Amino acid sequence: MKLKDLVFRTRSYRRFDESHLIDNKTLEDLVALARLSASGANRQPLKYLIYNTPVDCERLFPSLIWAAYLKEWCGPGHGERPTGYIVILGDKEIAEGFGVDHGITAQTIMLGATEKGLGGCMIASIMKDKLREDLNIPERFEILLVLALGKPVENVIVDEIKDGDVKYWRDEKGNHHVPKRPLNELIIKL
Ligand SMILES: Cc1cc2nc3c(=O)[nH]c(=O)nc-3n(C[C@H](O)[C@H](O)[C@H](O)COP(=O)(O)O)c2cc1C
Repeated sequence: MKLKDLVFRTRSYRRFDESHLIDNKTLEDLVALARLSASGANRQPLKYLIYNTPVDCERLFPSLIWAAYLKEWCGPGHGERPTGYIVILGDKEIAEGFGVDHGITAQTIMLGATEKGLGGCMIASIMKDKLREDLNIPERFEILLVLALGKPVENVIVDEIKDGDVKYWRDEKGNHHVPKRPLNELIIKL
């Protein structure tokens, strides 16, 4: 797939076919992509937890906050939940801060997921204390991002932004619309 198509298809998906399981090797392959990503001063302070069993997925799900703009929707229901997770941690014994490393690896992983026919959502709105407790994550690690993964069952439409409104929304058919600013607003001249 051409990079442009891969990037275009790498949307945030929040509803999945929960009968589609993700094996360990697939998640390991995605972390192997993260391993090759750029890292400030090449410190490589990120660590990854991978989960793919229904029991583990059920432990993780309640700590995540989904789609703040969709006020009527409290996240995917049973049957539409993610079937794999990658939790990105910062190892404080390696670095005090993690800069933008986790953003870079997160996007790399999401692109890799698209290539494998999967999709998902980066989640930063996390009940971190609860997640730390539920997954027994030692204090040494800062919880940075959760990547929720699965086989998407939703249709995402990229729209041009209207009246500067950045809020994503769902139409009556359940399509998810995500507004993007046009290129001529992004490239500025001073
Ligand atoms: C750093 C970061 C944190 C995000 N956190 C959440 C989150 O907590 N919950 C959620 O549902 N979506 C989250 N998202 C997904 C964004 O809402 C999504 O990227 C945005 O709506 C644009 O959609 P797109 O990814 O399809 O372009 C996050 C995205 C990024 C990059």
